[in-house]
Amino acid sequence: MWMMNSKYGEETFFSSLESELNALIYNEKNLTANLANIASWIYHCYPNLNWCGFYLWDEADQELILGPFQGKPACLRIKSGRGVCGTSFQRKTVLKIDNVHEIENHIACDSASVSELVIPLIKGETIFGVLDLDSPLPSRFSQNEAEELTRIMNNLSQKIF
Ligand code: SME
Repeated sequence: MWMMNSKYGEETFFSSLESELNALIYNEKNLTANLANIASWIYHCYPNLNWCGFYLWDEADQELILGPFQGKPACLRIKSGRGVCGTSFQRKTVLKIDNVHEIENHIACDSASVSELVIPLIKGETIFGVLDLDSPLPSRFSQNEAEELTRIMNNLSQKIF
C-alpha cells in the first residue's frame, strides 16, 4: 500500500490506488460489497480522514441514503440540495470545502470534520450518488487530489454501477 505521503509522491500514489481499487472490485458484481471495499481502502490509504463513504440516490424515496462507509455513524438520509453531499449531487459537481464551519449549507455528522471533498458518482447521464471524504484538518484536500480521485471514481463508476 502506498501512503499519500510516501517518498514516491502523488502520481505514484494515485496510479497505485487506482490499480488497487480495480483489483478489489475485480470479478465482483455486488454493489454493496464493492462500495464497502472501496470506502475501506480509501479510508486506510488516505492520511488524516475521519470519515469516508457513500450516499446513494434512492429513486423511490427521492433522497440520498447512507451507504457503505468507514468512520463514526452518520446521518441516514440527505435531500438533494441539502448539505455538501446533497449540493454536489444536485449540481453533479465535485465540491471541495476547506472549512465546513464557514459555510451555512453543511450537515454536521461528526463534529471532528473540518474539510470535506464530495465526488458525484456518474455513469453516462445517470448520477447514482456521491463519495464523501471528511478530514479533521482544514484545507486537507488539494486540487490535484480532488481531480485524481474524481478521475479514478469516474472510471470505477463505469464498472460498479
Ligand atoms: N457533512 C455532510 C454530511 C455527511 S457526513 O459528513 C458523513 C454534508 O454536509 O453533506
